Amino acid sequence: MRIVLSVVFLAIALFQFTFIDLAFAAEVSNGAKIFNANCASCHIGGGNILIAEKTLKKEALSKYLQNYDADSIQAIIYQVQNGKNAMPSYKSKLSEQEILEVAAYVFQKAEQAWQDS
Ligand code: HEC
Repeated sequence: MRIVLSVVFLAIALFQFTFIDLAFAAEVSNGAKIFNANCASCHIGGGNILIAEKTLKKEALSKYLQNYDADSIQAIIYQVQNGKNAMPSYKSKLSEQEILEVAAYVFQKAEQAWQDS
């Protein structure tokens, strides 16, 4: 009986992981479109054409974006919602879902060092 239960729990755990991965992947691919339409003008290739050092690379995010190390996606969402200095706020231009999607995309690209894939 214990073994049966363990197998059931394992199956549920695996299913949940796969499901979360798929949901995350869908967000990231839509995020790419949102990024190209709204962010690439200043952040092409994960750079920053206005303030050179404030890129979207992992080291810069970790250095300049408050709470990036503790809660990366939330930290990106905050900046997109509120803007900062020369960066506009996107609260009225993008939906909450779109902001989440573009933040997931930026996070994933930063983890991959903005390499093409
Ligand atoms: C008009 C140009 C412009 C656009 C468009 C723009 N940004 Fe920015 N972004 C900036 C500037 C300038 C900064 C640095 C702000 C500061 O700290 O003074 C910045 C900083 C950031 C940061 C923090 C990076 C760091 O190293 O400090 C993130 C994350 C970010 N932008 C994401 C986005 C996303 C996502 C979009 C699209 C939804 C976007 N930006 C659109 C200009 C822009």
